[in-house]
Amino acid sequence: MNRARHIAIIMDGNGRWAVQRGMQRIRGHERGAEVVREITTYCAQHPEVEVLTLYAFSTENWKRPKVEVDFLMRLLDRWLAQELPTYQREGVRFEVIGDLSKFSPQLQERIAMTREKTQHNDRLTQVLALNYGGRDEIVRACRKACQAGVELDETNFEAFLDANLGDVDMLIRTGGEQRISNFLLWRAAYAELFFTKTLWPDFTPEELAQMIAAFKGRERRFGAI
Ligand code: FPP
Repeated sequence: MNRARHIAIIMDGNGRWAVQRGMQRIRGHERGAEVVREITTYCAQHPEVEVLTLYAFSTENWKRPKVEVDFLMRLLDRWLAQELPTYQREGVRFEVIGDLSKFSPQLQERIAMTREKTQHNDRLTQVLALNYGGRDEIVRACRKACQAGVELDETNFEAFLDANLGDVDMLIRTGGEQRISNFLLWRAAYAELFFTKTLWPDFTPEELAQMIAAFKGRERRFGAI
């Protein structure tokens, strides 16, 4: 039986959700952050899920209007501060992937503190992909290996990526688009793909449960016959 050990989600559709309701796009991100909590709590209580990786800010998202980028940065900072009790209650270890060097010292400090305070939690690892791009992560991994004088192969490569998370089992994208958008390129090599038209602020644990049930019925051959 397939096991959904590592679930990765491209959380798309916040802006459209807000615009459809006559609200500013940033309100969609606010609602989206609440959904992050609901889905994380569901995964923490689902014994088979060990890792939940969420695409929160891509290397391309800097191209958005400055007010939206600034809002997302503040939201993240505020959200991490207020989520700590949820992480501790639900046994969630917080992890990040991506190049954090472009974030403000305050946000970097908040991220480091949240990682440190949750490092012993062991029911779920929640990974936020921040200033993340799959190609960027691979290039940085190759550089690290070169600097360490290590000859890369398929078995030692992951050790040079931003975090040791293992392969993705289910890659979900909300919001109706059907593409990977530079997410987890190395780890998603054999991921089962799920696309839904549901906008991220409307995504529910029930829909995730339906996807996990469908995943159980998929035949995963990993290249074999
Ligand atoms: C995509 O929707 C979403 C993002 C670029 C950011 C994701 C952020 C959140 C879910 C909220 C903040 C998260 C945390 C962890 C605090 P979009 O804006 O591209 O939507 P659209 O395609 O409808 O325009």
